[in-house]
Amino acid sequence: MNAKPNLLSGMQPSASSLHLGNYLGALVNWVNMQENFNAYYVIVDLHAITVPQDPAELRTNTRRTAAQYIAAGIDPAKSALFVQSHVPAHAELAWILNCITGFGEASRMTQFKDKSQKAGSDSASVGLFTYPILQAADILLYQPKAVPVGEDQRQHLELTRDLAERFNSRFGKTFTIPEAHIMKETAKIYDLQNPTAKMSKSAADPKGLVNIMDDDTTISKKIKSAVTDTEGSIKLDWENKPGVSNLLSIHSSLSGESIVSLEERFEGAGYGVLKGEVADVVISAIGPIRDRANELMSDQAELDRLLARGAEKAKVVANQTLAAVYDRVGFIKPE
Ligand code: TYM
Repeated sequence: MNAKPNLLSGMQPSASSLHLGNYLGALVNWVNMQENFNAYYVIVDLHAITVPQDPAELRTNTRRTAAQYIAAGIDPAKSALFVQSHVPAHAELAWILNCITGFGEASRMTQFKDKSQKAGSDSASVGLFTYPILQAADILLYQPKAVPVGEDQRQHLELTRDLAERFNSRFGKTFTIPEAHIMKETAKIYDLQNPTAKMSKSAADPKGLVNIMDDDTTISKKIKSAVTDTEGSIKLDWENKPGVSNLLSIHSSLSGESIVSLEERFEGAGYGVLKGEVADVVISAIGPIRDRANELMSDQAELDRLLARGAEKAKVVANQTLAAVYDRVGFIKPE
């Protein structure tokens, strides 16, 4: 592309909708950062099969995820928007990185521990175990300076940096060492029903997460039934008032109004008033994204064309990195 630094990030197409945590924690930054970076945005379908998937749903969810990226402002003309399985270099580099990752090192990944505990250790797949190594491959192929993610990805980014440094010191400088780019205010959006846990598609109660594809009435109902506390004051206090703090932080990051100003404005008001306003703010921010995503989904052929073009752009950089890696580790070139 050009002299701008590279950037890469990705999301799993493992649900029929992205949620507000994905949107605020990652997607908003992606849209802003595409101006100043050569951005690569990947829909990580290989990661999505590390837990059992329904093939028809995966197909639909992959396209729905792409539609939501574009509807939220990712411009496929500026950024490379693509599907991970369309660029075979991801799986190929992952194998090489598997071979320089320690078993103990991979065992320390907290997301694996959480997810495998949920699945039960007998049903957790080896793919789930090596998931962070595939993620490292996603990143390192594109030589990015920055990787915009939410707080929950910090440990995977550390592993990625460690693997890049290890490879570089063993085989010669091959990879750029990437930096996690985590926005403090939106690094972690919490579950509305269980406001000390992060908002997540695997939430126990679907009322805890606002989906980008939810209709207005559903969004409003979910926010109005958010768990708060009995104290009755509207102020930011994560320790004692996680529910209210989460609502304030969602409001502030979508409306741009500072927390201090919100606290002043809501002084003496009841939680119902706060919730009503948060619902309005959320609906006006994500309602148009949902509507646009639905429109995009109605032209599947066009969506597939955009993704094919994105994969072509991605392959140029990915294949170049992979060729250097193959050479460095000692593979001979095919005639
Ligand atoms: P995934 O699909 O779980 O989440 C996508 C992005 O959304 C962020 N996020 C949140 N941010 C704030 N609050 C929340 N409650 C919240 N929930 C999710 C995540 O931090 C992430 O940035 N392993 C990655 C996918 C991946 C990837 C990559 C990311 C694969 N390869 C390469 C970056 C670079 C994941 O599961 O994201």
